[in-house]
Amino acid sequence: MVKIAIVYYSLYGHIRKMAEAVKKGVEDAGHTATLLQLPETLSEEVLAKMHAPPKSDDAVVTLADLEAYDGIIFGLSGRYGQFSAQFKTFWDSTGSLWAAGKLIGKPAAVFASTAQQGGGQETIGLTLIPQLAHHGMIFVPLGYADPKLFVNTEVHGGSPYGAGTIANGDGSRMPSELELGIAVTQGTNFAKVAAKLAAK
Ligand SMILES: Cc1cc2nc3c(=O)[nH]c(=O)nc-3n(C[C@H](O)[C@H](O)[C@H](O)COP(=O)(O)O)c2cc1C
Repeated sequence: MVKIAIVYYSLYGHIRKMAEAVKKGVEDAGHTATLLQLPETLSEEVLAKMHAPPKSDDAVVTLADLEAYDGIIFGLSGRYGQFSAQFKTFWDSTGSLWAAGKLIGKPAAVFASTAQQGGGQETIGLTLIPQLAHHGMIFVPLGYADPKLFVNTEVHGGSPYGAGTIANGDGSRMPSELELGIAVTQGTNFAKVAAKLAAK
């Protein structure tokens, strides 16, 4: 059995909801998953102006967590087609792990949330790859492992880079059943890959 960390940043709960589905997928494959949230960098004043709800009770991820888990799935809320500053700040705190090569060979994946379909569903995954490469982590894409990705009869997030959801500009759209199903598939497939790597 492998231990998977789902490390996420979610301001309005869309990514948090997707993270639960990814966790289910990992557990469906017979493995364990833990939800860990990224440290917030915005002040309470700014968060209030952005109408951000309170954070979840999930533990805040630490550098030791990155080392301890067998694989890490990142859940990222989009900012201008990339991941948020909170995530970049966290990456920039991982120099000690990088210097010691602690994450080399560890599998990683990504799922994303954007307001619009063209708002970064693919580019968030694409722009994660340099971070993974520098740490020597193994990017595990979703590919078209879930046929729901081919659906063109309804609006949905997700791409070969990973599962995804579309939140709307005002955050009014929560993840659909189709998007949550793709997220479950990603959790299952990722856990299977992580288990194969851990067995070597
Ligand atoms: C500063 C900022 C920039 C954003 N930029 C984009 C963008 O370029 N494209 C887009 O589709 N959504 C954009 N969004 C919307 C977020 O992606 C959306 O609020 C998020 O996916 C909701 O997920 P969450 O509730 O898990 O945070 C932006 C939001 C903020 C606050």
